[in-house]
Amino acid sequence: MIQGMKGRERIAALTAYDYPTAKLLDETGIPLILVGDSLGMVVLGYPDTTHVTMTEMEHHVRAAARAKPRALLAADLPFHSYETAETAVANSRRLVAAGAEAVKAEGGRSILAQVRAIIAAGIPFLGHLGMLPQHVREQGGYHIKGCREEERQALLADAAALTEAGAFAIVLELVTPPVANEITERISIPTIGIGSGPDCDGQILVIHDLVGTYPWFTPRHVKPRLNAAELMSGAVAEWRRSL
Ligand code: KIV
Repeated sequence: MIQGMKGRERIAALTAYDYPTAKLLDETGIPLILVGDSLGMVVLGYPDTTHVTMTEMEHHVRAAARAKPRALLAADLPFHSYETAETAVANSRRLVAAGAEAVKAEGGRSILAQVRAIIAAGIPFLGHLGMLPQHVREQGGYHIKGCREEERQALLADAAALTEAGAFAIVLELVTPPVANEITERISIPTIGIGSGPDCDGQILVIHDLVGTYPWFTPRHVKPRLNAAELMSGAVAEWRRSL
């Protein structure tokens, strides 16, 4: 379904990590909900996604899956959970048993054996290229990718490899917009951008960034549509005054 949307309809995707958020987002009619490992920062209070465990992912996938969304429910394979084809399949199966309908992992040609094994096991796979948050420490921060020619070539080759392996779509995170556009034009599956300009086939955001429930940090590419933190503080203050 997501794959068939390329060229027909913009794909709107958001993260959810719990039952009410998954239910609310599903009621808006979006076609893709991701239980992202960004839950590490916006829900669990870790400094980055590298601390998220399989057990934590399963817990949150179960909660989101209880909303029984009509949207495709995808889940992130956390850091170090897909080092080999065998562990990639075993951990993907755990996420599916928890309620995920697809899994996402970060990387292109470097994880191709794992991607092929996941797809061969019958589990739909969502790619993730560009800035790879699980590698933030090696990459020295959250930097835009594709500005240098060798990065551009590598991204194009990784996107082609994931397409050929059978991924149904690819998230492009912090890819310089001209390169995100070039990838989008060259591959047959949808690209879903985050901080990668307007020309991807769809866009994905962390729900907390969109509605302002994590006000201590807002990525540069996000224009929050609501300041929920301020509304919540105001509601609490008003309630206290009423006591
Ligand atoms: O972990 C996450 O939430 C993600 C998306 C924002 C792409 O990977």
